[in-house]
Amino acid sequence: MLTISVNGQKRQVSSPEGTPLLYVLRNELGVDSPQFGCGMAQCGACSILLDGKEVRSCITPAMMAAGKEITTIEGLSARWAQQKHLSPAQAAKTLHPVQEAWIEQQTPLCGICQSGMMIKATELLESNPNPSVEQIKDAFTNSAPSPRLCRCGSYIAIIDAVRFASTLMAKGGAQ
Ligand code: FES
Ligand code: FES
Repeated sequence: MLTISVNGQKRQVSSPEGTPLLYVLRNELGVDSPQFGCGMAQCGACSILLDGKEVRSCITPAMMAAGKEITTIEGLSARWAQQKHLSPAQAAKTLHPVQEAWIEQQTPLCGICQSGMMIKATELLESNPNPSVEQIKDAFTNSAPSPRLCRCGSYIAIIDAVRFASTLMAKGGAQ
């Protein structure tokens, strides 16, 4: 039995340790924001944060998460609340600036890729709170293991949303 930490909660996993995290999260733990796109680390739909670093959960064995913290979209609000030292009452009504921006900008089209895009945006903004358009394009396109793909072509909207999230973060959260 493997124990992993998902969005701040310790979870027992009975799947074999080599099972991809995507299947563990979706099929065993009911955490269904990471999506199955290609299954080969080529699209980014399945991305999660592992100790703050974007990884492709479709090719990451569950055992690789031992001793680390998994964050998915379901945990973004709590992640932000913890970073900003919000009270439990404030945290309960707070979204992460990336979530606020994605809603405000109405970024998703079909939506399948967007969980992974928001995870990548969170990773980027935690290391570079004020990225330029070129830096956003570079992060989403050139960082390993592959470009983040959107079959609906929402790339411009994603850049706008990342810029807006950056503005919100600089203000300390939602307007
Ligand atoms: S489903 Fe994992 S990268 Fe495409
Ligand atoms: S919004 Fe449809 S694949 Fe990106």
